[in-house]
Formats: sequence, structure tokens, C-alpha cells
Amino acid sequence: MSGEPKRGAAGLLAWLDDRTGYRAFHQRIADISVDGGATWSRALGNAVIATLLVQSLAGLALMAVYAPSTTAAWSSVHYLSYTQAGGWFARGLHHWASHVLVVLVVAHLGLAIGRRVYAAPAEVAWWLLLARGALVLGLAITGHALPWDQSGYWARRVEVAIAGMTPALGPTLARWVQGGASLGQLALTRFYALHVGVLPLLLSAFTVLHIGIERRAAVKRRDVSGATTAQTPYFPAQAARDGALLVLVLLIAAALTVHARGAPLSAPADAASDYPARPEWFLLPLFMVRKLASGPWEFLFVAGVPAILVGYLLALPWIDKGVSATRGARAPVALVGLLSVIAIGVSLRRDAHDKAFVTAQSKADARAVAAIAIAKQGVPPEGPLVMLRRDAELRGEELFAKHCATCHILGNLGNEKDAIAPTLDGFGLEAWIEAVMHDPDANERFGKTAFTGLMPSVDVPNVELAADGPPFRPMTLEDRHATAVFLASEGDEATDVPKPSPRDAALVAKGEATVRERCTTCHMYKGQGDDSNQEVAPELSGYGSLAWVKAQIANPATKATYREHALDAEWKKHMPRYDHELSPLDIELVARWTRGHARGVSP
Ligand code: HEC
Ligand code: HEC
Repeated sequence: MSGEPKRGAAGLLAWLDDRTGYRAFHQRIADISVDGGATWSRALGNAVIATLLVQSLAGLALMAVYAPSTTAAWSSVHYLSYTQAGGWFARGLHHWASHVLVVLVVAHLGLAIGRRVYAAPAEVAWWLLLARGALVLGLAITGHALPWDQSGYWARRVEVAIAGMTPALGPTLARWVQGGASLGQLALTRFYALHVGVLPLLLSAFTVLHIGIERRAAVKRRDVSGATTAQTPYFPAQAARDGALLVLVLLIAAALTVHARGAPLSAPADAASDYPARPEWFLLPLFMVRKLASGPWEFLFVAGVPAILVGYLLALPWIDKGVSATRGARAPVALVGLLSVIAIGVSLRRDAHDKAFVTAQSKADARAVAAIAIAKQGVPPEGPLVMLRRDAELRGEELFAKHCATCHILGNLGNEKDAIAPTLDGFGLEAWIEAVMHDPDANERFGKTAFTGLMPSVDVPNVELAADGPPFRPMTLEDRHATAVFLASEGDEATDVPKPSPRDAALVAKGEATVRERCTTCHMYKGQGDDSNQEVAPELSGYGSLAWVKAQIANPATKATYREHALDAEWKKHMPRYDHELSPLDIELVARWTRGHARGVSP
């Protein structure tokens, strides 16, 4: 420093340069030169690095919200996607850029092979390039596991199963990969550590090494050949290409993000469910290879095919020395590339035409949509699976399908051929009740139950009873309707959504009077009735209410519904009790679901 000390900003910068030497550093950067002119293939390699940097930044943003625990991971990703401002975009960008990155890496490797970058003395630089590709795939795979959703979880299950097929070492290897007997918390912790720590560190190290060793190889090559390739400055020609490519990558990732409104999130990982597992798209060729073989061959194929390919790529510097005899050395790589693209296409097409897959997939999609909607009300600390098991809509349907649809029909569950119990659509509503009163023994009512023939129609004379009973008084349509309105009102709950429409008080009163007068000969109403102690006709107070339905499911053989003797041996086809089999919560959930879907209110 000489002369007058500078003042103001200039003085500050001069001081900073004196202490740090940043100007010289800046000059060194500006002086960076590249071999030959600016090229797009170099830009492709640099775009890979730049995209990785962007991924690290987006990844850091995600890390600020993500929780790597099997009970919290899904909820934290849900929070990120649906609550945190801008979270959906950060996650979407990170997700879609990772797909673009895989394409870039493969394209870059393809170009590199085309340009024979592996030729001596750049063998080591070539291996580092291959290792970098493998690490990028590793990042994509471990990243896919982190949301701990069905799609990531089941893809990992497939991979662990493959690791488990290794002869002799299989079980040990599988345990090692998942960190225990099953794919759980330890596995997730490992994936997380790999994804945010180990792999990025290795990737940075390999990238730096690759740049250094490649430059050294270039110098060496020049020295050997004696040729002088022109050195062109990195700025601005090459920098412009690198920048343009990066912007293109980001634009594609952003467009995909906006199109998909973020990144996909399937339902929370559930080991007890079935899910149409598929690996990442770039592993689909392997998935196809796996399908070609079975038994011990399966492992040989799945491990052998990539091993041969990787071995071939590693050995390329020797296989292809560039002399005319080995000119075809690159053909197998091109062929494998082509076959892989075809395999991916065929796999996707095959799935799209596979009915079982499409059904399973749309079931899984529906569950994902439901889970995402439910989680918006908050996820309990026990995690999203517990949340789903407490949801009347999801859990109720699951329970009904498993326990009730064998006898009953409701909505699209159950079927006419097997049904031996009343169809529950509309159960407890006026029309359903009027139908029972008119024809209790219709097939879709009690015709196939043990009770058939026990309740007379209110308006159709019964020939057998007519002979010795009192003269038949058919009920008027108005009375029938009033009775049905009254009984339907017994099932109304103030908490129903939508709210029950107000019932005509006069009709209700008239209906109640009719029940007391005409029905309690057999039925109970508020604990009174059943004049001849037959103990077969159910209690009608609270009929169709949540409490009534719950009581019926827990145990129909109580005075709350079908009376104490309903499960006696003579009533063989009677509805079974579930209080021994299902938890009180499950009974509540299936009752809510059944009643809700029967009456058209939310469960
Ligand atoms: C083995 C066949 C069978 C199974 C399984 C069964 N039910 Fe029933 N259910 C019946 C029969 C028969 C009736 C008629 C009344 C009775 O027997 O209690 C009935 C009656 C009912 C009723 C009263 C309305 C009506 O139509 O009479 C409801 C509500 C009901 N079942 C719900 C369920 C639910 C929910 C499940 C599953 C948890 C279930 N049922 C399982 C046979 C079955
Ligand atoms: C002769 C005896 C008898 C009389 C009288 C009788 N019921 Fe019933 N009711 C039954 C029996 C038994 C059942 C069980 C299912 C069946 O047999 O249809 C039943 C079932 C019902 C059900 C369906 C319960 C369920 O599980 O969903 C309704 C609703 C009903 N009765 C309404 C009435 C009304 C309203 C009256 C009066 C107008 C009436 N019943 C009169 C015997 C009777």
C-alpha cells in the first residue's frame, strides 16, 4: 500500500484485500482456462456439479423441518408439503431435480464414453466419474426412503429382499442393510445419515479429486503428444454454457414441481399393508431382469447383470485402447443403454395394462389422498399409522370389509350372492323402515335371516295368521309413514354432518303412539313391551342411533337391541357379537362407518 490512504468503501475494500488477498483470488478464478474451446459436453459435467450444489441448498431447507423418525418422518414431510410456507416448492424442486440429475449423469457418462475420456492416462479420473454416478443413484434411492411413505418403504423392502437372496451371506446382508430384523427406525436413521452426510461428503471429495486428476491427465496427455491445444478462458464462453444448462435444469425441475404441485407423498409406510411395490424408474431394467429368472437364478441375474456391466465400464480403458481392432468395445455399452430405455418403457406400459396393478395402485392412491386430508387436522404423537387406525372413514371401511361384508351389503361392499343379512344402505331411514314394515321378509331385509316369518307386514294380510288371529287391520299409508318418521328420528344424532333435517313433530308424536299401540306386542320400546315374552323382536328406542348400532355390533344379545337370547343356539344365523374380537375403539369406528354410510352422514 502506498500513497494517501483511501477513504470510504474503497478504503474498506483495500483493507479487506490487504488482510485476505481476495483480489488475487478473484483474479485466479477469472484466469481459469479450459482445454480447447468452450463445449457443451463440458457444460453437461459442470451442470451435474451445479445441480448437486442446488440440491444441497434445497436439502438444507428440508432438513430444517424433516424429522428422521418412523413416527414423525411422514408427518414432517406432510407439514413441509401442506403447511410450511414455500415448503412444497423446496421439496418439489429437490425431488424433481433429483430425477433430472439422474438423467444428466447418465447423459454425461454417455457423452464421456463417446469421447473416450477414459483413455490413458485418465483411467483414475474415469473411475471417479463412475463412482460419482453411483453416488448420485445412492442419493436418489436413500432420499426416496426418507418420507417413510408406502412408495419409498416398499421399494426398500424389495431391495432388502434382493440383498437377502445373496447365497450364504443373504440374511446377514439383509440385517446389515436394514439395521435389524425388519425395516424400521434403524434403517431410516441409516438412510438419513447416508443421504445427508456420508454420500454428499463422498460426492464432494470425489468431485474435487476428479477435477484435479482430470486436469493433471490432460496436462500429461499434452506433454506426451506434444500437441498444443489452445487454452481458452473459462469466462465467459464456457461459464455462459454452464449457466444456461443449469438454468434449463432448474426450469425443468420447477415446471415439474408446479405441474405436480410439489412432490408426491403416498400413504404412511405400513408393513402390514399390501402395496404394489416398484423400485425407482432407473432401476426398472433390473426389475425386469429379475422377473426373467426365478429361484437361485434370480439373485444371480439381479446381482450378476449389474456386476458385469460395472466391471465392463471399469475395465473400459483396457478393453478399448482405441486401436481399430477394439473399435467395437463401446458397442455393448450402447446396446445396454438402449435396452435399458426399452425396458423402462416396457415396464411402465406393462403396469399400465396390468389390471391388478392398476386396481392396487388406485386403492393406494385413494389411501394417500385420505391420509393427507386427515393429517391436515394434525397427526397424533404416536404417528400417522395410529392416526389412520383411529379414522372412522378408513378404519371403519377396512373393518366392515373384513367382518361385516360377508353377511351384509353396504355401498360397494358385500354382494347379493353371499348376503344372508339385511342390506344396510338406508338402514334406519324412513324408506328402509317403511320397507321393513311393508315386507320384513324381503331378501334385502330379513328374508334370509333366522327371523324370517316372525314379523308380519303392517299392510299385507298374512294368510296363515288370518285364520285364527283377530281380523287384520291394514295400517294406512299415513300411519306407516308417521311410524317410520318417528323411528328414523330415534336414530338422529345432533352431531350428524349434515345435520338431520327437522322432523314434523306431529308426525313423530303420531308415530310414537302407533309404536306403543301396535308394535310393542312383540318389540320393546324403552324397556316395555313384548307382551307374550317371545324375546325376539328388538328394542326400538334409540333405533339407528350410534349407541344402538354400537350395542348391536358389540353384542346383539342384550336388551339394548336384539334381546338377551338372540345368540342362543336356535338362532343360528343371527348376527355374531364382536366385543370379544374387536377393541371398543374398533367397534366405535365400524359403527360410525356403518351408520354414517347407511344414513348418508359423515362417520
Ligand atoms: C354372520 C352374518 C353377519 C355378520 C358377519 C354381521 N352381521 Fe349384522 N346382522 C346380521 C343379521 C342376521 C342381522 C339381523 C338381526 C340380527 O340377527 O341381529 C344383522 C343386523 C345388523 C344391524 C341392524 C340392522 C339390521 O339390518 O337388522 C346392523 C346395524 C348390523 N347388523 C351391522 C353389522 C356390522 C357393522 C357388522 C360387522 C361388524 C355385522 N353386522 C356383521 C348378520 C351379520
Ligand atoms: C309379531 C311380532 C312383531 C310385531 C307386531 C312387529 N314386529 Fe318389528 N320385528 C319383529 C321381529 C321378530 C324383528 C326381527 C327381524 C324380522 O323378523 O324381520 C323385527 C324387526 C323390525 C325392524 C328392524 C330392526 C332391525 O334390526 O333393523 C323394524 C324397524 C321393525 N321391526 C319395526 C316394527 C314396527 C314399526 C312395528 C309396528 C308397526 C313392528 N315392527 C311390529 C317382530 C315384530
